[in-house]
Amino acid sequence: MPSKTILECRGVKKHYGALAAVDGIDLKIKEGETVGIGGPNGAGKTTFFDLISGLTAVTSGQVLFRDQPITGIAPHLLFQQGMARTFQVTSGFASLTVLENLLAAIIFGSGEERPGLFVRNQHRERAMRVLDECGLRDLSAHTVGDIPVLARKKLMVASAVVHDPSILLLDEPVGGLMPAEIDEFIQLMFKLRSKGICIVFIEHVMRFLTTVADRALIIHQGKLIYDGQPKGIAADELVRSVYLGSSASTLGGNAS
Ligand SMILES: Nc1ncnc2c1ncn2[C@@H]1O[C@H](COP(=O)(O)OP(=O)(O)OP(=O)(O)O)[C@@H](O)[C@H]1O
Ligand SMILES: [Mg+2]
Repeated sequence: MPSKTILECRGVKKHYGALAAVDGIDLKIKEGETVGIGGPNGAGKTTFFDLISGLTAVTSGQVLFRDQPITGIAPHLLFQQGMARTFQVTSGFASLTVLENLLAAIIFGSGEERPGLFVRNQHRERAMRVLDECGLRDLSAHTVGDIPVLARKKLMVASAVVHDPSILLLDEPVGGLMPAEIDEFIQLMFKLRSKGICIVFIEHVMRFLTTVADRALIIHQGKLIYDGQPKGIAADELVRSVYLGSSASTLGGNAS
């Protein structure tokens, strides 16, 4: 297992007026690690992703991707350098097919200065390989607006991994899915993890977090209050009091 740091945060803060949405996070994430992030609504998890993916500028502190500060680097350039991200709200071009969505991600995420609109064989082959990996091949000709929510969520992941990222950031990938669908998503995560991709995800569904992650982080009021084994979350008094509370039982089974 490689142990090089792929992402580092040094005293990262984001203030919105008087609100400290992210309030001084120090962190190192290693290549190939799978890290699950939890925490109450409004804790600052998505804002934290916005900071590490270059979508939002830090108020103070520094984010380093492969030892280089990301300050001022646009998200699409970070994508070309191997940092891919999905969003909390399921997106995608609803009127295009699943395959066309993937082709768009491949062509426009390629980093070519003038990508053009021509679909080459290599684009199509890559798209079909990724669709296969993500269990979407049978839906390739379906319009995205017509496919089930599980498939749309898988498509977001598929679109993010088209250029073989070294780090993949997923914001609540299984929110709203049924337990059996979550199981299917877990298998997809295992597959991506086995390819050596570093996966960092935000998720309220504790069963998913504890099954997929080999390290858990809990954020509360913009601060990191837990960094350790996923199986230790339920026993941590502070985490229980501010986050899990009576829902600690969800660690065993259902979506929160
Ligand atoms: N652009 C913004 N302007 C002002 N306040 C913001 C902005 N973005 C986020 N916030 C505030 O920052 C805090 C953290 O929000 P964030 O979306 O990061 O929480 P979260 O942990 O992802 O919550 P959830 O689990 O509900 O998705 C919230 O109080 C939110 O209202
Ligand atoms: Mg969020």
